[in-house]
Amino acid sequence: MRFPFLFATRCCKTLRSLQQSPFFGPSLSKHQRSSALIYTSAQPCQEDRSYYITTPIFYVNASPHLGHLYSAVIADCLHRYKLLRGFNSKFTTGTDEHGLKIQQAAEAAGKDPSAFCADVSEQFKRVFGSCNISYTDYTRTTQQRHRRAVEHFWSVLWDKGLIYKGSYEGWYSTQDESFLTPSQVTDALDSSGKEIRVSLESGHKVEWMKEENYMFRLSAFRPQLLDWLGGNPRAVQPERFHRAALQWLQEDLPDLSVSRQRSRLQWGIPVPGDAGQIIYVWLDALVNYLTAAGYPDGHERWWRVAHHIVGKDILKFHAIYWPAFLLGAGLPPPELIHVHSHWTVGGKKMSKSLGNVVDPLERSQMFTTDGVRYFLLRQGVPDSDCDYTDDKVMKLLNAEIADSLGGLLNRCTAPALNPAQVYPSFCPRSFPSEQGGRAVAEDYRMLDAVTSLLPAVEKHYESAHVYKALEAISACVRQTNGFVQRHTPWKLDRRDSRDQRWLDTIVHVSLECLRIYGTLLQPVVPEISNKLLSRLGVREGEKSWAALDFLPRHRGMDCPFEGRTLGPDSGVLFNRLESQNVDRQTPKKSKKSANLK
Ligand code: MSP
Repeated sequence: MRFPFLFATRCCKTLRSLQQSPFFGPSLSKHQRSSALIYTSAQPCQEDRSYYITTPIFYVNASPHLGHLYSAVIADCLHRYKLLRGFNSKFTTGTDEHGLKIQQAAEAAGKDPSAFCADVSEQFKRVFGSCNISYTDYTRTTQQRHRRAVEHFWSVLWDKGLIYKGSYEGWYSTQDESFLTPSQVTDALDSSGKEIRVSLESGHKVEWMKEENYMFRLSAFRPQLLDWLGGNPRAVQPERFHRAALQWLQEDLPDLSVSRQRSRLQWGIPVPGDAGQIIYVWLDALVNYLTAAGYPDGHERWWRVAHHIVGKDILKFHAIYWPAFLLGAGLPPPELIHVHSHWTVGGKKMSKSLGNVVDPLERSQMFTTDGVRYFLLRQGVPDSDCDYTDDKVMKLLNAEIADSLGGLLNRCTAPALNPAQVYPSFCPRSFPSEQGGRAVAEDYRMLDAVTSLLPAVEKHYESAHVYKALEAISACVRQTNGFVQRHTPWKLDRRDSRDQRWLDTIVHVSLECLRIYGTLLQPVVPEISNKLLSRLGVREGEKSWAALDFLPRHRGMDCPFEGRTLGPDSGVLFNRLESQNVDRQTPKKSKKSANLK
């Protein structure tokens, strides 16, 4: 049972016609042909201009924390980036509301599960709203449309004979809602010194369970999963997570229990045709990605371009179970899974049980929404965990946003340097395309750096290495500050027309750099970018990727901004944060301080 057709790269008419064109024949060198290919695939043709990005859906057993926001901010950034590139982008998030963990949390809170879920789901919405997470759909697994999608999905698997009635005996972690093999658990002591068994990976407590339930033929999917992962080295990124997924396929891959007895779990979707069993919460939750795409009707358009953002803790569910379910149901695996690492506090993963959670709303009040977004995306490295402190946020934002970017904007738009409050003219004699004017070799290097920043940032956004994009932008901002500093335009004599032209050129070049930085930063810090671009007089239709034409005057072309009046908002781009104004709160300690990993 193989589906090789599912793994074929998404083809494109443009590419086909290019291959048939006389220019794509043997007369091109191997290198030229591959560049042509790369270029074509980076410029999707009209019919491929759809993009579907998802976050995991969030458990409602606890309030949102900064780690959750991180998953959402990455997805939001990629969604905004695709919109700027002219894509029709769909971005879905939501809440995961079924299962034992939620049932127990509602019980502990003394609330009816549906009221409990509605309440916490609303909290996630509030956080996302105030952090500018511009999702286009929000799935709650308690919604009727989702139930319909899950029931349909289950029935397809059942009809294909991929689900059978069996019994499961083994370890289960309620906290992770996950079944574990004996080699995945170890001995530990709980906070009262009692011996318990825990998951090696998450450190969460596991319990032995023995139940009649429905099993999914996961073991049968090993060859197809190997085909998919082996044939698509970029399907799971970064590479270390792709390797981890392949490694799991070398290990034991038993069939998976996909339901629980109703006597233990009531809060969930009943198995179609057997009300005594409730569908396993992970099967239920994963289908949310299809629900938001319209499944069972009209989902194809989005499904073929689905990209998932997931934390490393839920990789196995997304890179093994989910593709197997999808293949079983006759659907292709997701096009791409972007995995990110975790935010720790004091070296430990942020979690309610450890009492070290950082509240995203509190932090966005302290540092502004864009401040928090910038910090998370600038410091968060997909490959490895990062430790959070308020101090780091303050230092980073002061250095890169307030001083470097804000300082540059302020210098070039302040009345002292720019009394006419315009985008001044560029003088080709002062800054000729070849050296010989007043510009020095370092200035030419700066222009080269900004020119190559565009494809570099594009590449980093495409691969979800947002921190690399921000690192590159920040380095260029420093170079532009260096350019202004080097030429001390405030010392030039305005009465001398040569000096005046050179001064205008310095400001023109700097504003051009700022325009590029502001445009490139929009997916990360939409409010700051908007303020910056508006101050430069850039209009709505001029903020897209297509308008990223850097310093056309240097190539002898017209610049639409030259002579334009600057925007009226001359306020500070980003206020410096002072430690006395930053109410540095240490995360609250929970009463239940488990000493597990
Ligand atoms: N409900 C499941 C996902 C189902 S998707 C079909 C779940 N929920 S979660 O609320 O526990 O986690 C949601 C996301 O938040 C995951 O990507 C997870 O990795 C991320 N994070 C949770 N804590 C985190 C940190 N401390 N740091 C970074 N991300 C973290 O898993």
